[in-house]
Amino acid sequence: MNLIKKMLVAPAAVLALWAVTAQATTDEAIAERLKPVGEVCVMGEECKGVGAVAAVAGGGARTADDIITKHCGACHTPGILGAPKIGDTAAWKARADKEGGLDAILKTAIAGINAMPPKGTCADCSDDELREAIQKMSGL
Ligand code: HEC
Repeated sequence: MNLIKKMLVAPAAVLALWAVTAQATTDEAIAERLKPVGEVCVMGEECKGVGAVAAVAGGGARTADDIITKHCGACHTPGILGAPKIGDTAAWKARADKEGGLDAILKTAIAGINAMPPKGTCADCSDDELREAIQKMSGL
C-alpha cells in the first residue's frame, strides 16, 4: 500500500467508527426518552406516574405491580418490622399454612396485623386487588 492510500484509509476507518458510536449514543438517548414514566418510579415511594399512565391506559385500572410498588413494597421489599419479604415464598407459605391459606392471610392483611396497617395502606384497594398483590409478592 502506498502512503497516499494509507492516509486515506485511516481517516475513513475513524469516520466509520465515529458514525457507529454516534448512532449508538442516539439510540440510547431515544430509548431513555421513550422509557415509560412508571419505570422511573422508586419502589416504596408515592408514584404519580404509574397512576397517571394507568389512568390513561385503562381508565384507572391498576395492576398488582402498581399496588405493590406504591403501597406494599416499602415494608415487604426490605422485610422490615418482620414483614415477609417479596419473593420469600417459604415465609409467606408458613403464614398461610398456619392461618388457613391465602384467604386467611388476605383477611389478616385487610384488618391489619401488628406493624402492618389495615390493607397495607391501600385504603381504596378492593379485596381482589389485595389478593393479587399478595399472590404476586408471595408466589403462592
Ligand atoms: C408499614 C409496613 C407495611 C406495609 C406498607 C405493608 N405491610 Fe404487609 N406486613 C407488614 C408486617 C410488619 C407484617 C408482619 C406482621 C406480623 O406478623 O407481625 C406484614 C404481613 C403481611 C401479610 C401476612 C399476614 C398474615 O396473616 O400473616 C400479608 C398478607 C401482607 N402483609 C400483605 C400486604 C399487602 C398486600 C400490602 C400492600 C397493599 C402490605 N402488606 C403492605 C408490614 C407492612
